[in-house]
Amino acid sequence: MEIPGMRAIGYIRSPYGNTKQIPKGLGTRHVAEGSLEILPEFEPGLMDIEGYSHLYVIWVFHQSEGYELVGTPPSDNQPHGVFSTRSPRRPNPIGLTVVELVRREGTSLFLRGVDMLDGTPVLDIKPYTSSIPEEKLRRGWLAEAEKRSQET
Ligand SMILES: C[S@@+](CC[C@H](N)C(=O)[O-])C[C@H]1O[C@@H](n2cnc3c(N)ncnc32)[C@H](O)[C@@H]1O
Repeated sequence: MEIPGMRAIGYIRSPYGNTKQIPKGLGTRHVAEGSLEILPEFEPGLMDIEGYSHLYVIWVFHQSEGYELVGTPPSDNQPHGVFSTRSPRRPNPIGLTVVELVRREGTSLFLRGVDMLDGTPVLDIKPYTSSIPEEKLRRGWLAEAEKRSQET
C-alpha cells in the first residue's frame, strides 16, 4: 500500500550538521537545544500548544539510505530487529523524538532535547501525555544491555 499526501509541516534547526556530532549509546541524554520552524500556512495549527511542556515530534530521517532489518545498535554489541531499535535505517525512515517545549515565538518552537540533524523535515507534532507508570514499563534488550554495561 502506498501512502500519499505526506509533506513537511516545518524543519528542525539544530546544532548538528552531521550525524557524528549527535551523542549516541547507552545512557545518552539529549539536552541539545534547537527549534522547529513551522511553515506559515500551518501556524493556526499551533494554537494552544504553549500549554504543553513536552511534545512528540514525528520526522523523516532524510539523510538515511536504505534499511537493515537486523542490525547492531550503538548501545549494544548484539544484533536486534529494526523494530526493537531506534535505528535510522528502517523501511519507512520515520523518527520520533520527545522534546521539551521551552517557548513559542510565532511559527518558531524552541525545543530542548533534539537529536535530529539541522534541516530535518518534520511531518507532525503531538502533545506528549504519558500515562504508563514506570513500574509497568519493560525496556527489552536495552535494560539488559544497561545491566551488562554496569557490571563491566
Ligand atoms: C537513534 S536515532 C533516534 C531518533 C529518534 N529519537 C527516534 O527514536 O526515532 C538518532 C540518530 O539518527 C541519526 N539522524 C538524526 N537526524 C537524521 C536525519 N535527518 N537523517 C538521517 N539520520 C539522522 C543520527 O545518527 C542520530 O544519532
